[in-house]
Amino acid sequence: METRILKKNETAAAAEILKKNRLLAFPTETVYGLGANAFNPHAITSIYKAKGRPTDNPMIIHIADKKDLGKIAKEIPDNARRLTDRFWPGPLTIVLKKRACIPDEATAGLPTVAVRCPKNKIAQKIIRNCGFPIAAPSANKSGRPSPTTAKHVIEDLGGKIDAIIDGGDSKHGLESTVIDMTVKPPIILRPGAVTEEQIRKTIGKVKTHRGGEKMPKSPGMKYRHYAPKAKVVLVDTKQIDTEIAKYKKQKKRVGLLSNAKKGKPDIYISNGKNKRETAKNLYKNLRTFDQKNTDVIIVEKTDEKGLGNAIMNRLRKAAGKK
Ligand code: TXA
Ligand code: MG
Repeated sequence: METRILKKNETAAAAEILKKNRLLAFPTETVYGLGANAFNPHAITSIYKAKGRPTDNPMIIHIADKKDLGKIAKEIPDNARRLTDRFWPGPLTIVLKKRACIPDEATAGLPTVAVRCPKNKIAQKIIRNCGFPIAAPSANKSGRPSPTTAKHVIEDLGGKIDAIIDGGDSKHGLESTVIDMTVKPPIILRPGAVTEEQIRKTIGKVKTHRGGEKMPKSPGMKYRHYAPKAKVVLVDTKQIDTEIAKYKKQKKRVGLLSNAKKGKPDIYISNGKNKRETAKNLYKNLRTFDQKNTDVIIVEKTDEKGLGNAIMNRLRKAAGKK
């Protein structure tokens, strides 16, 4: 199959593809998504095939208007409404009890559904034009870093999907915050651009899933995600020199992603001047190291405050054992 590349103003043509129950990659403000008609089980099944995604990992349902939440989810608590009033459209995904119109294929058989209202104008236009919600995981090959440009999508899924609409670079660069509102207190399953502090200010008590529990509440969390081909090693600033030297001695091609260049890496990339930049460019940088045939990427840790929590969450997963 040849993958069509649509320009950002071709949202009507993009919607036509989804109306035919075919696959379209589209931009959101977090990362690119791989979309299909959320009401069509066959279309959803083809997403799993194209990505090589395990079928027990449910996907997010995207809507254009927060008023449509009640069409997809039921028993919506007041605190969930407070969150959608405050953060939608935007990078927050809410898990609620699902309505019967959402096929089991989209939720991997769970009685709950994850819903998000993206802010990206292209995504908004396409969903409105379709008239149905769009089921979409990130548009990467399963296990690869999420795509933040159209080029990344083509690298992973070119030839496997019908089309992609190119909306330029993703604004945030990390996937949405996912919060389960079916439990008390609500639990953040995946940190993102909407921080725990912001959520607490809006609804009070909230917990963050730190991993280690026997049964992952969010099925996606048990997989090694967001990973480049190279080995990723997280280090404190003061360990950078010795870690680079250690791997160089083993004849490895060593990359460094840090605030300032230290030691003698083969490839150096700056992680940017603040956490927003670090987050925005993280996946792109990991892919760049792979393209330059890096064996080991030494990554300087950030503190876990604010957006730092989401950055370190993704980095730990990237560094997880293969
Ligand atoms: O920013 C984003 O969220 C992007 C854009 C495209 O919207 N999407 C995205 O989708 O990151 P994906 O499939 O890569 O991640 C969805 C996460 C997975 O960890 C999945 O397990 C979790 O949401 N999830 C989906 N439905 C769930 C449910 N009913 N209960 C708990 N977790 C759920
Ligand atoms: Mg993903």
